[in-house]
Amino acid sequence: MVNFSFFSEKEVQRLTNANNNKNYLHLNTDFKGFKEVMDINKLNKIISMPGLWHSQNFKMVLDRNAISFNKFVTDGEKLGFSKTCPDPIIVQDYIKKGASLILDDIIYVVKNVKDLASELQYITWGKCQANLYFSMQSHQAFGPHYDTHDVFALHCDGEKVWNIYENVEDNPINHPIFKPSLDERIEKAGKIKEQVLLKPGDLLYLPRGQYHDALASKNGAIHIAFGINYMKPIDMMQFIWDQLVVNPYLRSDIKNLKSISDVHEINKKISRELDKILNDKNLFLPMLNFYKEFPYSFVDYDLKSIVADGVQYKISDSIKLSNQNGQMIISNGKNSVPVPKNFEELTNFSFSEKNISFKKLSEHFKDLPESFIDEFIGAMKQMRVFS
Ligand SMILES: [Fe+2]
Repeated sequence: MVNFSFFSEKEVQRLTNANNNKNYLHLNTDFKGFKEVMDINKLNKIISMPGLWHSQNFKMVLDRNAISFNKFVTDGEKLGFSKTCPDPIIVQDYIKKGASLILDDIIYVVKNVKDLASELQYITWGKCQANLYFSMQSHQAFGPHYDTHDVFALHCDGEKVWNIYENVEDNPINHPIFKPSLDERIEKAGKIKEQVLLKPGDLLYLPRGQYHDALASKNGAIHIAFGINYMKPIDMMQFIWDQLVVNPYLRSDIKNLKSISDVHEINKKISRELDKILNDKNLFLPMLNFYKEFPYSFVDYDLKSIVADGVQYKISDSIKLSNQNGQMIISNGKNSVPVPKNFEELTNFSFSEKNISFKKLSEHFKDLPESFIDEFIGAMKQMRVFS
């Protein structure tokens, strides 16, 4: 069970219901943690780190048109970072003209964003990515559109009005058939159903396919769109792909199709083979685990605890400890060495733990002098028992 730090129990419930029923939801939160996720000062700080940004994650849009990365790139030589990245002077000139800035994939850039993404993954059981949008007044970055994933938009700075349109596209995915032109989108979106004013700390949930657009209403509006993708039957088919490959019939050659009824016969055979595979009991557990492991595992560095624990050693499974006529022996299958009597207790403990450190040994053997434990670790390293 996850301890939610961003959401109250009631909010988790409201979001879960909205998510299950695919209804958009405007959540006014009063939790100050949301406001601390991002603001203009934090944005300045992250975009001032040249090593982080490149053509894949730093994008600009002016009046609905993407600005080519080449137009605002620098090799950094004059600015002292010798790395191809956006030029702060040119980027800011574009922003002064009303351009929007989009930073993709910022989960690993801001710790709070990663924490919130983890909570949203837990609520929705999807894979979460987060993109940041910074925009100036009255410059619309996109026309009405839908996204091919659910969106949780966290408003971070300034204010922004979002238009929610009456229509929802049926389960769109990221594929060329779901890339309508602006004119088509304007037509298919229908009428505006609701206008939502978002202020810092507000969260707007938009289900996949919901037509919407956003208009900055104050200069410097920032929001982070947390996009969530769920597992789909198409992913299940990819998961069982190997089963299709090992099926002799599905690998066989199709020849002499002369009529519609021949096609129907073949389809029936394919369907029978698929039915066998999909009802194979041996596949149920791997498929369940595939679902359980679907969300991303976001990792954090934890150097502090590594420092506190000190250097750690592992004993490989191929190294065994045995007793021959009262003599403790360490062997790796090829070679065996006797363990000196005074190291026996330490050796036993180390083999029972498998992962061992100076700290662990000295805490367990409080009476032994540190120099003796050092000597033991040195001997084990030399025999390649500890690696
Ligand atoms: Fe969108």
